[in-house]
Amino acid sequence: MIANRRLPTAEDIVTEDLSDIGTRLAAEFGRLSGKKLLVVGGGGFLGYYLVQAPLAWNRLNKGPAIDVTVYDNWIRGTPSWLNGLRMDPHLTLVTHDITNPVPSGAPDFDFIIHAASIASPVYYRKHPIETMDANVKGLRHLLEYTLKLKKSGKPLSGFLFYSTSEIYGDPTPENIPTPETYRGHVSCTGPRACYDESKRYGETLCVNFARQCDLPITMARPFNNYGPGLKISDRRVLPDFARDVFAGRDIVMLSDGSATRTFCYITDAIVGYYKILANGRKGEPYNIGTDRPEVPIVQLAESIVKLAAKNWDYTGRVVKQISADKDYLVDNPNCRCPVIDKARRELGYEPTVSLENGLERALIWYSANQCAGDA
Ligand SMILES: NC(=O)c1ccc[n+]([C@@H]2O[C@H](COP(=O)([O-])OP(=O)(O)OC[C@H]3O[C@@H](n4cnc5c(N)ncnc54)[C@H](O)[C@@H]3O)[C@@H](O)[C@H]2O)c1
Repeated sequence: MIANRRLPTAEDIVTEDLSDIGTRLAAEFGRLSGKKLLVVGGGGFLGYYLVQAPLAWNRLNKGPAIDVTVYDNWIRGTPSWLNGLRMDPHLTLVTHDITNPVPSGAPDFDFIIHAASIASPVYYRKHPIETMDANVKGLRHLLEYTLKLKKSGKPLSGFLFYSTSEIYGDPTPENIPTPETYRGHVSCTGPRACYDESKRYGETLCVNFARQCDLPITMARPFNNYGPGLKISDRRVLPDFARDVFAGRDIVMLSDGSATRTFCYITDAIVGYYKILANGRKGEPYNIGTDRPEVPIVQLAESIVKLAAKNWDYTGRVVKQISADKDYLVDNPNCRCPVIDKARRELGYEPTVSLENGLERALIWYSANQCAGDA
């Protein structure tokens, strides 16, 4: 589909986003300057800006660069955007499955982000054992490595483990919006348990390594991030809707559309994650997302129809269908909305991108990124 009015290009969107992230993270990237950062799982959706943002910051700042290393086993495919960065002198790409120990020749990293775990429900249900292993075995290897660095007198400055809002399961109505203190309402045997329970145990590992070994380990609980980098074939709700739009067909909702979510544009989320890495309190989890608006999925679909009609003369509508996958909606939470006061108070975190602006930016990006493998 061709845009019917002058819109920014996908490249403009990415450039603006990286500049926004760099500006909002001036102090935190200052702390990472001249340091070695390892991003495990850097080939995924969050990796898109987790990796590009410090590299973009390096290009604009004269001080010592942030050196970024990515470990990934490419289970979700090898992204072309990362191949395009191979020549960056401050990026090292390593094929490594984190269910194996950190390679013996690895440099002494200063900061580690563990983002290696399939996040799309369709794909983690397809790879449940690999998902659990990445969150438990993989995390353990990274924690052991962190302890080894401390013992050898080169202690790490920060470690961020990606947990998830799914650790709350399907909260009871009085626990929406959900603060970090809520303990969760989660199945340990359902089709999503491989993800939810391995993240819960991952957090327990982090808290106890932080306490017992006095290590600077922190945790993020992301709430529904979206935007550039989330490939159109990922099978999360927003790329599914974008795929329908750019295929010129009706938007298919595989539910009754009543479940509610808050959607956090990726720049806001990345700012939150780096703030935790640089300044989070040891052994502490932080909700990262946006606390408003909380919208039913049907409203999200209708907003996309409106935006696509305005910008691309889209004429489709929203239709409901039952998924052929019988587990598609099993244990799917009814409502998801975070309390983000802890991140606001302790880290100065504040999401700034409105849903309408974020959706438009995401659709522009999808208009130029309609091809992605189904990995
Ligand atoms: N995106 C969100 O809204 C969201 C929400 C909650 C939690 N999270 C968490 O954030 C992290 C990143 O999410 P994402 O959306 O980028 O996920 P993603 O599925 O897009 O990417 C995950 C990346 O990890 C890699 N990977 C998986 N197993 C690995 C292993 N054993 N060794 C090395 N690499 C491995 C994959 O190849 C992929 O590049 C995950 O831990 C996820 O659970 C994300």
